[in-house]
Amino acid sequence: MKSRMIAPSILSANFNQLGDDIRMINQSDADWIHFDVMDGVFVPNISFGIPVIEHVARIASKPLDVHLMIISPDQFIVPFAQAGAALITVHMETCPHLHRTVGLIKEQGIMASVCLNPHTPVSSLECIIAGLDMVLLMSVNPGFGGQKFIEGTIEKVKTLAELIDRKNPACLIEVDGGVNEETGKKLFDAGANVLVAGNYVFSAPDPKQAIIRLKNC
Ligand code: DX5
Ligand code: ZN
Repeated sequence: MKSRMIAPSILSANFNQLGDDIRMINQSDADWIHFDVMDGVFVPNISFGIPVIEHVARIASKPLDVHLMIISPDQFIVPFAQAGAALITVHMETCPHLHRTVGLIKEQGIMASVCLNPHTPVSSLECIIAGLDMVLLMSVNPGFGGQKFIEGTIEKVKTLAELIDRKNPACLIEVDGGVNEETGKKLFDAGANVLVAGNYVFSAPDPKQAIIRLKNC
């Protein structure tokens, strides 16, 4: 039975007190810390980069789950791995040589994950799924936290779970965007293993309780 994990996205954290928010996650039931790295080219927003991850890595007690929403990820795999990433996700849509990119991530001794935007079909993973540690499905159009969940993602998780059962049963499914207790339950029931949550966690009066509720939804 694969575990049910929560990865709070610091995109929604309070950057005036980021250290306090990281220490909250350290003490919470969260499993990973999710970093939404955006370059303003692949997605219409700019977030943060390597210095933030380097500093968080010094105080984080949970694995750093780095989601690269950037147009040329190949040139940043080694720097993010050296900064402390335990897992790097690249977008299928940004990698013309995805097999080589996945190999480069694994050469760093960390987990390799591929992300699909809402329009990209699960079938596009057919020839790469065997080499992956995780697949991340976007349940919003990437670029911003606090967006509305795309309901079709539930069926997409089920389709992905079937492919994984057939070709790589150890591969995890992560979902990112618009996750809350209602959508989270549907996603876990459909076969998701890791839920990314930004707004739901950091807008809650008690983020630690929100993480517990999400994990048990
Ligand atoms: C979109 C980001 C968001 C973020 C989570 O590019 O990847 O999905 O992680 O956003 P919430 O949980 O606030 O919808
Ligand atoms: Zn993300």
